[in-house]
Amino acid sequence: MPHEVNGVVASGKGAPVGIATVVVPDPGPTEALVSVQACGVCHTDLHYREGGIGDDFPYLLGHEAAGLVEAVGSDVTGLEPGDFVILNWRAVCGQCRACLRGRPWYCFATHNATQKMTLTDGTPLSPALGIGAFADKTLVAAGQCTKVSPAIKPEVAGLLGCGVMAGLGAALNTAGVTRGDSVAVIGCGGVGDAAILGASLAGARKIIAVDVDDRKLDWARQFGATDTVNSASADPVEQIRALTGGNGADVVIEAVGRAETYTQAFYARDLAGIVVLVGVPTPEMRLDLPLLDVFGRGGALKSSWYGDCLPARDFPMLVDLHLQGRLPLDKFVSDTIPLDGIEEAFAKMQRGEVLRSVVLL
Ligand SMILES: NC(=O)c1ccc[n+]([C@@H]2O[C@H](COP(=O)([O-])OP(=O)(O)OC[C@H]3O[C@@H](n4cnc5c(N)ncnc54)[C@H](O)[C@@H]3O)[C@@H](O)[C@H]2O)c1
Ligand SMILES: [Zn+2]
Repeated sequence: MPHEVNGVVASGKGAPVGIATVVVPDPGPTEALVSVQACGVCHTDLHYREGGIGDDFPYLLGHEAAGLVEAVGSDVTGLEPGDFVILNWRAVCGQCRACLRGRPWYCFATHNATQKMTLTDGTPLSPALGIGAFADKTLVAAGQCTKVSPAIKPEVAGLLGCGVMAGLGAALNTAGVTRGDSVAVIGCGGVGDAAILGASLAGARKIIAVDVDDRKLDWARQFGATDTVNSASADPVEQIRALTGGNGADVVIEAVGRAETYTQAFYARDLAGIVVLVGVPTPEMRLDLPLLDVFGRGGALKSSWYGDCLPARDFPMLVDLHLQGRLPLDKFVSDTIPLDGIEEAFAKMQRGEVLRSVVLL
């Protein structure tokens, strides 16, 4: 029997989101019905409602979520009603060319439940990142459910489903930060602060936080930044070099998504260092660098998609570290809000007042 629940729907480009009744079918053979407990408000949800990701309106927003499995399809194994799960947008397929080459963190498969969630008039909804979790219940591919310890609070756990994992993984997986490294992170929102936390967990010796907002720099210290630079008033390249004995950092992580901050990252890194781009640029952005500098400075220029994570490997491990008191993920939750608070949360995000607002359901 289909379920009728409240969900947050973006009906057209730029239009404010609203709550609508969503019809959620029972799971198909390889799917799971999840009762959502918490879902973070991510910049990507705003991109969807602004038409920046596609034109498949109406969208059912929300994708940084945790909840309880309510029902599973007939072919699903290893997942049962009552399991506490974090939803992921990388259910490793095992069959695409990346998986077959042993690089499953590049898995190209997209996962959408075959049963469509709809509005009450039958209009199909496009779930954000194949998840759509600003709703009391959602339907996903079973592989999008990663079981973790239920001892973690849902509003904290859900954040691992997107932005916090992207930042942690940019440092830990993509850059491979290790003991003694110097690391600079440009842009200290939720993603950048998670990169700072990842660098700290990996044993970086110096972690330089760069932002244009002093409030963000204060928060960055709480996640492990050893030094801060306000790049609105000082040249970040000069400052990062000065803080690293004139050399530049071993690793620079760009978590804004702009050409000028990428250029800063490029020049703020030591010779043969690593730049990781985790911020997402927009289509019109262009980069202009002397090719001789790309050659002459050597090293690696990488991008990080979802922190190169493997949900089944990384989520349970990070949850355990959190429960042991070694990973203060709760600091990312700036406020908890009801389902009808999304527009206000978008505004707070744009004013830089929060790291994450999280909807409790
Ligand atoms: N690669 C991925 O898999 C992935 C996943 C999630 C999010 N993201 C992207 O990561 C980026 C950051 O996301 P977020 O949620 O932290 O966003 P956010 O808006 O919370 O944070 C951005 C931060 O950058 C700072 N900033 C803005 N302009 C700056 C400048 N010129 N110099 C220095 N700092 C500047 C802001 O003050 C803010 O603190 C976004 O582009 C987002 O789309 C990427
Ligand atoms: Zn996201």
